[in-house]
Amino acid sequence: MKAVRVGLLGFGVVGGGTAAVLTRNAQEIARRAGRGIEIVKILARDPAKPRAVALPPGRMTREADEILKDPTIEVVVETMGGIEPARSYILAAIAAGKHVVTANKALIATCGNEIFAAARARGVVVAFEAAVAGGIPIIKAIREGLAGNRIRGVAGIINGTCNYILTEMREHRTEFTAALKQAQALGYAEADPHFDIDGIDAAHKLTILAAIAFGIPLVFEQVYIEGIRELETADIVYAAELGYRVKHLGIARRGAHGIELRAHPVLIPQKRLIANVDGVMNAILVSGDAVGSALFYGPGAGAEPTASAVVADIIDVVRTLTTDPGLRVPHLAFQPDALSDGPVLGMADVETACYLRCEALDRPGVMADVTRILADLGISIEAILQKAPEPGAHTVPVILLTHSVREAQVDAAIARIASLESITGKIRRLRVESFA
Ligand code: NAP
Ligand code: HSE
Repeated sequence: MKAVRVGLLGFGVVGGGTAAVLTRNAQEIARRAGRGIEIVKILARDPAKPRAVALPPGRMTREADEILKDPTIEVVVETMGGIEPARSYILAAIAAGKHVVTANKALIATCGNEIFAAARARGVVVAFEAAVAGGIPIIKAIREGLAGNRIRGVAGIINGTCNYILTEMREHRTEFTAALKQAQALGYAEADPHFDIDGIDAAHKLTILAAIAFGIPLVFEQVYIEGIRELETADIVYAAELGYRVKHLGIARRGAHGIELRAHPVLIPQKRLIANVDGVMNAILVSGDAVGSALFYGPGAGAEPTASAVVADIIDVVRTLTTDPGLRVPHLAFQPDALSDGPVLGMADVETACYLRCEALDRPGVMADVTRILADLGISIEAILQKAPEPGAHTVPVILLTHSVREAQVDAAIARIASLESITGKIRRLRVESFA
């Protein structure tokens, strides 16, 4: 049987890794797919740029139509990134009856509803395993392996760049900007790293995970997002003194009053497995009524780990080329006419324990003022840490851990504590997840 002809849009970190894996493992892949798989055309901005993967001549182009309008190309793999022109190219590929594989979480999270509707109408597959958690096959695990469960929640370290930076800050006291530069050099970061460090990339991935876990549409705009830009090494150090690690998590959880969708830094007890996931590694904890808790661990970014997911999707697509579209696994796990629109909780109604840090004048009565405010608002304290002043400083760091409380109560407490004349500077707040 003839090899399946693939067009590749983008030849950077992920596109290059995909070509390398397809070439190196060609025989093994053909034995799995039932046919050979050949990349026949590759789109890049600068076709003349030297590439890590050697290619036969004539493969590179800067004209997308050489792929999108070639009737012999059955599968288009998009590893360009960004919204446009990736969105238009994918929609054109779908309209031309081509199957699509993409690593583009920003595109799936924000335009996925439109793209999947177009794919359904045309009877083609859009596969996106590489969009979440790099090499961990978490989409397949939730969509197929855990299909018998009512999923209660998904929580994970889903941005490799953030986890790498936080690990470097904790283990080597590396300064934030230097750690980000290292992550960029290793090929982990997005083209615009603001997506990583401001939590947007994790929110894109969380949007996708929540859709396939709960059977809701993709609702990126409803995710609460905070990044790690504001984190200080001091918080990582104090958290450790209290027995916690700081991680950036995406959390999607079903509650009695709605679904929580949030991506932000979190304190996790050091003894939890997920707290010990370091560097570029990702881990996703899925909680289902039948399976209980299952933790998926693996590399979350980088050329070949991501290519591992892209190539698995290509093989899946090749295997289903002749399948009746109605018999394929639905893109978002649930039948498209069975998606529900559960309410997403506003952040004010989310309940978590909290870590608060403030700078207080070193004089009697200050601690009493702070704890009185918390007591008045019904917030109970689990731990207090007061540090000695730095040499020459007039203030001392005060760190508090609260029990679980509604976010709105903590907002009120922060406002009142900040207005005390004895408190200086910004009050830092981090949420705590115990995963008990
Ligand atoms: P990258 O290294 O910046 O590569 C992007 C590639 O796309 C480059 O080859 C670039 O061409 C090409 N390209 C970009 N815009 C183009 C345009 N308008 N026309 C033609 N070609 C264009 O990015 P990457 O890290 O591989 O990421 C690609 C996608 O994978 C993104 O959606 C990203 O979120 C996702 N992803 C990345 C990782 C990771 O670890 N890096 C992991 C999972 C998912 P030139 O080479 O000529 O500049
Ligand atoms: N920039 C992303 C990360 C790439 O660091 O997790 C993998 O999706």
